[in-house]
Amino acid sequence: MTNKTSVFFILLLIAAAITLSCSESAEHISKRVFPIAAQQIAAMDARLASGVTPRTVENGQVKDAGIRAWTSGFFAGTAWQAYEYTGDEKLLEIARRRTLELASLPQYNVGHDIGFMIGCSAGNAWRITRDSTFLPIIKAGADNLAARFNPQVGCTLSWGEFRESKFTVIIDNMMNLELLTTAAKLFDADSLKEMAITHANTTIRNHFRDDYTTWHVVAYDPQSGDVDFKCTRQGYSDDSAWARGQAWALYGYTMMYRETGEPAFLPQAENIARMLLKRLPKDGVPYWDFDDPDIPDTYRDASAGAIMASAFAELSTLTADSKLSRKCHRMALRQVRTLASGQYFATEGNGNFLLRHSVGNLPDGGEVDVPLSYADYYFLEALIRLNR
Ligand code: GLY
Repeated sequence: MTNKTSVFFILLLIAAAITLSCSESAEHISKRVFPIAAQQIAAMDARLASGVTPRTVENGQVKDAGIRAWTSGFFAGTAWQAYEYTGDEKLLEIARRRTLELASLPQYNVGHDIGFMIGCSAGNAWRITRDSTFLPIIKAGADNLAARFNPQVGCTLSWGEFRESKFTVIIDNMMNLELLTTAAKLFDADSLKEMAITHANTTIRNHFRDDYTTWHVVAYDPQSGDVDFKCTRQGYSDDSAWARGQAWALYGYTMMYRETGEPAFLPQAENIARMLLKRLPKDGVPYWDFDDPDIPDTYRDASAGAIMASAFAELSTLTADSKLSRKCHRMALRQVRTLASGQYFATEGNGNFLLRHSVGNLPDGGEVDVPLSYADYYFLEALIRLNR
């Protein structure tokens, strides 16, 4: 072969690889990703003692956390997602065992994140197996979260002490409402559903800017319910659009519309989606904050990309706007294709996490450009949703 011919064939191969990665179906990506996920989950499980959950890798060191960390439900949840797709009994055993290790959590004051912890673990366990063992955990978790509801504010409390406030609500807290709506249905407890709806309505009123970006933190006066101030903790600035916050907002209102059918929640999700569709980079994975002036020379956040992909996939099935539905579906697919590419998806190593390049809390210098357990969880969920 002449030099010219071999250059031609190399270029042809590169073009074929690029075309394949730009057109790979969700089904094909899933067939590639889930067997590796199953191996990584099993290896992670073998490394972790009982009651220890994976969190990240920093400076080459794997970092774990106890069951009271806000992230504790994601590993069991990731195992449930992988079991749901593969039907692998080994994953079922891991998912069950890791879920039951969290069963005592509702006895403690672990904060609003109880929704993530119990929802992603026991919530998925019940959804997938219908095994009643998990029901009391869901009920106790929901009661724990409901005790944080303040009727004057119309929200469940996120943080009790932050700057000069004693009652702050973060946009992330939208995610925890699914535990309330799930328990409301299972236990015929309308008051839990009403709390969740009130929280979501209060958040529509106070958390969003005119362009449908969201503040991270809103501080309320717990007696009057008045807004005291709005700011960020994990974003670039008080006025910026922190990427994961926008992802929680998109997911939160999409999920709340699915759960309650409340008419106001669908347009809220649609408007957040339209804003994101305009602002996301071409490959769909956001920079850690949409307003970081260093873009494009700053970090991406794979976790925000994965959460958005899962939410876009679901919103595409709920919206009646067919053009928006197509755009949401295309964006979800683009996001999972990017995340499943060699740039983000680790086929081995990576502390047995699936995705690289997430950002936990950049202003505090914590968990920057690292794997994170929740990025993996929402990545697999997005794939499952795109396969439905
Ligand atoms: N509440 C957790 C986070 O998004 O960092």
